Amino acid sequence: MPSDINRLIIFDQFFDTVHRQIVNALKAPKDAQVLDVGSGAGGFARHMARKLKGKGRVTTLDIARESLLKAQELAGREKLEKRILSVLGDVEALPHPDNKFDLIWCSRVVHHHLPKPNAALAELYRILRPGGRLAIREDGGRRWRFSSKNLAIEDDLQTRLHDLYDRWFEEEHGRSRPDDAWWLKTLESLGLKSVETRTFSIKTPDMKTQLLYIDDWFRSFLSRDAGGGYRAKLGPSDRWALERLTDPELECGVLNQTVRSISFDIETIVYIGAKP
Ligand SMILES: C[S@@+](CC[C@H](N)C(=O)[O-])C[C@H]1O[C@@H](n2cnc3c(N)ncnc32)[C@H](O)[C@@H]1O
Repeated sequence: MPSDINRLIIFDQFFDTVHRQIVNALKAPKDAQVLDVGSGAGGFARHMARKLKGKGRVTTLDIARESLLKAQELAGREKLEKRILSVLGDVEALPHPDNKFDLIWCSRVVHHHLPKPNAALAELYRILRPGGRLAIREDGGRRWRFSSKNLAIEDDLQTRLHDLYDRWFEEEHGRSRPDDAWWLKTLESLGLKSVETRTFSIKTPDMKTQLLYIDDWFRSFLSRDAGGGYRAKLGPSDRWALERLTDPELECGVLNQTVRSISFDIETIVYIGAKP
């Protein structure tokens, strides 16, 4: 089973072109001080770092040492290590002074990990300089889907897994998954101005990366199941299907299936606002 960091690398590979598009759209000044909060394997930070010059830096901040180390290693391979600083920290108590950053990027952290997001959002606002922008990537409650004539996967399985995830989220966090309206209202109530939603479409990577992404998504349900939270919810036949689909020894395993094309319906949503 891939470790957490390997899962983040697969994610970065799958969304590589989307990360590039977002960096281009954000148009940070060349000498910007950028913070990537919960930076994971650092794929976004590397795209941003390539755009910067002079005093421009990206600070990657994560609560997991393993993520920071891997992000530094991958930055080093591209000779970007001088542009990318690494900070071990918690988004709910950031170690930075007020008004420091020109741009803060926070992808899949607030909604994914924080039962009460307000403390983290207030911290992000505090360290943003006036005129600086906060960009948060979340899924806005959307459901991504893939389809392929060649993959031997039962159609309704995806719907059941998405339903399961929604139910789990509600029980875990005591609220439903935040939608666009929730994010816009929340960012405005923080004090941000010109708050907007931007949508980016996927340009699918090579077939191996596509299959790895699907395999990883199925695995994520089994790993949650191992934690106990899903055990009662993931029915025995779906658990059995997932175990077979993620088994690299079986011909029916996703990674071993012969596939000519997969279509993905995935939007990447970014909520952006500026500090007055
Ligand atoms: C789902 S991953 C997202 C990684 C990356 N931003 C991306 O979109 O692929 C969440 C990341 O946030 C980090 N994280 C979780 N809780 C955190 C916290 N309280 N403070 C800082 N980072 C945190 C995790 O270690 C992980 O690297």
